[in-house]
Amino acid sequence: MSSSSLGDQRVVSGMRATGAMHLGHYHGVLKNWLRLQHEYDCFFFVADWHGLTTHYADPSGIAGAAWDMLVDWLAVGIDPGRACIFVQSRVSEHAELHLLLSMVTPLGWLERVPTYKDQQEKLRERDLATYGFLGYPVLQSADILMYRPQFVPVGEDQVAHVEITREIARRFNHLYGREVGFEEKAEEAIKRLGSKNARLYRQLKKRFSERGDADALATGQALVEGQQNLMLSDRERLLGYLEGAGRTILPEPQALLTAASKMPGLDGQKMSKSYGNTITLRESDKDIEEKIKRMPTDPARVRRDDPGEPEKCPVWEWHKVYSDDKTKDWVQTGCRSAGIGCLECKQPIVEAVQAEVGPIRARAEEIAGDSQMVRTIVAEGNDTARDAARDTLADVRQVMGLNYL
Ligand code: TRP
Ligand code: SF4
Repeated sequence: MSSSSLGDQRVVSGMRATGAMHLGHYHGVLKNWLRLQHEYDCFFFVADWHGLTTHYADPSGIAGAAWDMLVDWLAVGIDPGRACIFVQSRVSEHAELHLLLSMVTPLGWLERVPTYKDQQEKLRERDLATYGFLGYPVLQSADILMYRPQFVPVGEDQVAHVEITREIARRFNHLYGREVGFEEKAEEAIKRLGSKNARLYRQLKKRFSERGDADALATGQALVEGQQNLMLSDRERLLGYLEGAGRTILPEPQALLTAASKMPGLDGQKMSKSYGNTITLRESDKDIEEKIKRMPTDPARVRRDDPGEPEKCPVWEWHKVYSDDKTKDWVQTGCRSAGIGCLECKQPIVEAVQAEVGPIRARAEEIAGDSQMVRTIVAEGNDTARDAARDTLADVRQVMGLNYL
């Protein structure tokens, strides 16, 4: 993986194995990942175990879904030279961390996660009164904390999961961050900052502890994080000591909220496979054209010479994503004056979507035809992830007293 201007700042995100990517994923999540891979050390993975929490009774779709996702990620340009692409179940360290975190996670926290009851109600046909389903957020916390990332890019629906991840990290650090001789070791580490920075660190620590000055804390954290040649253990001690706490073994990550995709489905609802309103990234030109031509429009426009209102039409939302100002003006005027027909109005979108999907589909077909290449890329990603995971687990085992043989 390349390191960039933000050095070793990490980003972790995963997606449940749900299958082929569509335009909603592309405009919501994947374009965001494409940008992040240039700025951070990114870990992107297929959460196939999370797929099992709801589909354990019929796991037959998971393998195909995982393959399609990996191919599509590569096809849009997620670059294995920049980001670590891997599969959750291939890095079994995640299971060990899940187990260890489960020891410290109060049941009440899990029962209170909003998705827990919501999903149980939504997916009534499945029996989700399982241990695995309740533990979904613990597994997700393990996925995240394993890589000690600064950021977790997720949509609104996942914010609660990042929040519980932070709580679990805090509780873990509180329980296990009190190493013997912590204060002495922290004082030694301060000396290694050099006299000028050491003085600054002490002032900031004092300002935070005496006045709860949040700016002082932030400045102190930046000071510590900016030290190139500190050992990781010293860095953690200094960060913990700054707050008057113990050592931070699992830093609290922040959610990086992905702006809600402005890309609605063909029917104007959220684009989702379960609503059958998607255009996938491998759709043929012909299917793209047919699907867009069948899109509902402003219901008031029954006949060609009835005027319409773009704000009441899902096609207009698509123009907002795909069209330039000139085309948008043409739509607004033409629709309200009945100067253009709906099929005419859709034509620029058909062309824009075909132009967007065409090259992705071509790359996806090429990649899908070379399964050996995909396997190699993912195997390398799994190895990279596993190395990073083992570092964290070694620390976790140690502080939990499991390093005795
Ligand atoms: N729960 C996430 C979703 O449904 C998938 C996921 C699993 C995830 N582990 C994660 C997302 C870790 C971010 C980080 O989309
Ligand atoms: Fe929708 Fe365009 Fe038809 Fe107006 S002209 S109703 S914006 S498709």
